[in-house]
Amino acid sequence: MVKIGKINLKNPVMVASGTFGYAEEFEGLIDLKKLGAIVTKTITLDPKQGNPMPRICETASGMLNAIGLQNKGVDNFIEEKLPYLSKIGVPVIVSVSGDCADEFCELAKRLDREKHVDGIELNLSCPNIKARGLIAQDKEATYETVKSVREKTGKTLIAKLSPNVTDIVEIAEAACEAGADSVSLINTLIGMAIDVETGKPKLGNITGGLSGPCIKPIALRMVWEVAKNIDKPVIGMGGIMTAQDAVEFLIAGAKAVQIGTASFIDPGISGKIIKGVEKWTKTK
Ligand SMILES: Cc1cc2nc3c(=O)[nH]c(=O)nc-3n(C[C@H](O)[C@H](O)[C@H](O)COP(=O)(O)O)c2cc1C
Repeated sequence: MVKIGKINLKNPVMVASGTFGYAEEFEGLIDLKKLGAIVTKTITLDPKQGNPMPRICETASGMLNAIGLQNKGVDNFIEEKLPYLSKIGVPVIVSVSGDCADEFCELAKRLDREKHVDGIELNLSCPNIKARGLIAQDKEATYETVKSVREKTGKTLIAKLSPNVTDIVEIAEAACEAGADSVSLINTLIGMAIDVETGKPKLGNITGGLSGPCIKPIALRMVWEVAKNIDKPVIGMGGIMTAQDAVEFLIAGAKAVQIGTASFIDPGISGKIIKGVEKWTKTK
């Protein structure tokens, strides 16, 4: 049993935002009830069209994505996605994003009324929205955003951090001081790829977020740095493909992990990682 804020998880393995849709897409491919928690794809207040195509491309040991937070908005989520999620019997953590603190607050207010929402993950770190930098790159903006959302909800609040910073510890500290119950890290690293035949970027958005095994050593280092400096639970992610990878994050100080890109290769991978982590826990 793992505790993140007020949420009790039966195991430390969750699925990461944006890589598992709203869970319904994975029905029949994995036993959803076995998951520690489900983190939904990020939703915003109003619907978003997302970035121009192409939105993903493969790289050495990873992938780049520039989806641009395409989603149908919070009202649609509550009406059409939450009823399915609430029947699974696993904690539901809703990932939210906004262009300003007011948007985050409005999302938190709406979700606070929903009894089947167990937690809110603040996506302060999406590299693809066209704003002035990222909230998660600025400790004051992180503090202000988390603090204003904290005033609107008693639900478990997780601040998701960006690795595209010089010092991730100071951002994690700002989020915790502002009232976050937990921090999750890392989101993707900003990168790009070029097609040498056309001379054009491989992504319509030019740059995108790098994920997968290539980012694991960076993610692990950041989780270790944050975990030894804050006293709130850390949720680690970034390139976890196997149970051994997940265990490395737990040893580095994470209380739980999230599985992202790996679900695109094997939609049932989280179930296998849960079993592997259980086995490791018993033998160690
Ligand atoms: C296609 C794709 C879409 C993603 N969408 C979101 C998103 O909507 N919100 C979010 O917070 N993170 C999003 N992420 C980031 C992942 O949740 C995760 O932080 C990152 O991919 C690192 O983990 P991984 O290497 O295991 O994939 C996305 C990642 C990918 C690959």
